[in-house]
Amino acid sequence: MSGNRAVAYKGTGKVEVIDTDYPTFELKDGPGVNPANVGRQVHHGVIIKTVTTNICGSDQHMVRGRTSAPIDLVLGHEITGEVVEVGRDVEFIKKGDLCSVPFNIACGRCRNCKERKTGICLNVNPDRPGSAYGYVDMGGWVGGQAEYVLVPYADWNLLKFPDRDQAMEKILDLTMLSDILPTGFHGAVTAGVGVGSTVYVAGAGPVGLAAAASAQLLGAAVVVVGDLNEERLAQARSFGCETVDVSKGDPADQLEQLLGVPEVDCGIDAVGFEARGHGDKAGTEAPATVLNSLMDITAAGGALGIPGLYVTGDPGAADDAAKVGSLSLSLGTGWAKSLSFTTGQCPVMKYNRGLMMAILHDRIEIAKAVNAKTIGLEDAPRGYEEFDAGAATKYVLDPHGSVAA
Ligand SMILES: NC(=O)c1ccc[n+]([C@@H]2O[C@H](COP(=O)([O-])OP(=O)(O)OC[C@H]3O[C@@H](n4cnc5c(N)ncnc54)[C@H](O)[C@@H]3O)[C@@H](O)[C@H]2O)c1
Ligand SMILES: [Zn+2]
Ligand SMILES: [Zn+2]
Repeated sequence: MSGNRAVAYKGTGKVEVIDTDYPTFELKDGPGVNPANVGRQVHHGVIIKTVTTNICGSDQHMVRGRTSAPIDLVLGHEITGEVVEVGRDVEFIKKGDLCSVPFNIACGRCRNCKERKTGICLNVNPDRPGSAYGYVDMGGWVGGQAEYVLVPYADWNLLKFPDRDQAMEKILDLTMLSDILPTGFHGAVTAGVGVGSTVYVAGAGPVGLAAAASAQLLGAAVVVVGDLNEERLAQARSFGCETVDVSKGDPADQLEQLLGVPEVDCGIDAVGFEARGHGDKAGTEAPATVLNSLMDITAAGGALGIPGLYVTGDPGAADDAAKVGSLSLSLGTGWAKSLSFTTGQCPVMKYNRGLMMAILHDRIEIAKAVNAKTIGLEDAPRGYEEFDAGAATKYVLDPHGSVAA
């Protein structure tokens, strides 16, 4: 085998599909590869022929020029595919297995992995705990918006689907197991959602919609989704959520109209640092808005699940403090109300198997909830553009036409 096609970051607002190398069992130098990772031997890995690979809001932070992502970085951390080559040290995963790849890269050997905190594995990223494919500051593992991709520590990382034909029938649902379904579910779990909870989800992008569908699965009484994009709010209503339009003002008043009280039991931030202000400030970015409003509307003793991404450096931030990741948080409000917070990458492996079973046994229709749409790899630039413009769609790339077939 030689050759590969992949989606690469080409500067602010631009991605291109490029010719690139077919992966080998060694991490080679390239854009964004940490020098300490160059030459790393990956005989515990497999090469995956990508069946589906999704575009994520996390990719958009890079493509919008809001990170230090280098030009030519191959993107893509939401990968599902077939094993076509198996490394020397792989014991249980076999050629032909159809698998979901958790977006977190984890070694399975470090203290954090042993505690199932796979979002902060200590051995895969020389810069800091935690890693992902195709992402800035994540060690340089090549992205999977490509025909082929290398997956390290394959026995540990891969979730094999039990039956290939059954999996292909539900592939648009199962493709969400690599990130947004576990991420939304983690947001709901860590916000304390259970039977009878009232829940506010900030953000009606794919992660917010996945959090809302997860909250329903967990038994929430009412799930309210807030955004300022009417098309995305309509998408949330399509599967039984209530909605608030934050361009009309802070969510508290609208929540009071819906629930009789201006508060909820559980708050989920599925927006992150590129948050817009509320009401007449909706035209401008206000990175602390969602966190401050969640502290305001979450009942005392409640919890905030924060899958929305916050960064340590944001070259495109509106003010100097936000440029180094400092936000103007009203932490006193959170303290006075004894709120708990859970941030960080979702440890996908904690949830993906259970959620796979929920999909296979028709307990959740995640592809429908997020309005999954398949496009070819070559159409990735259009997918990025439409997603950036706020389409109520989760774009799924189909590099080999496997889903179309
Ligand atoms: N923690 C994790 O493991 C993890 C995994 C995947 C994605 N993420 C992050 O989750 C976030 C959401 O991802 P996505 O793919 O849905 O992104 P997205 O950009 O499609 O969605 C964000 C939505 O938030 C809305 N929004 C902006 N300001 C708002 C406000 N004040 N109140 C309510 N809504 C507001 C936007 O209009 C948009 O619809 C991103 O920050 C992404 O990086 C985190
Ligand atoms: Zn993602
Ligand atoms: Zn580890």
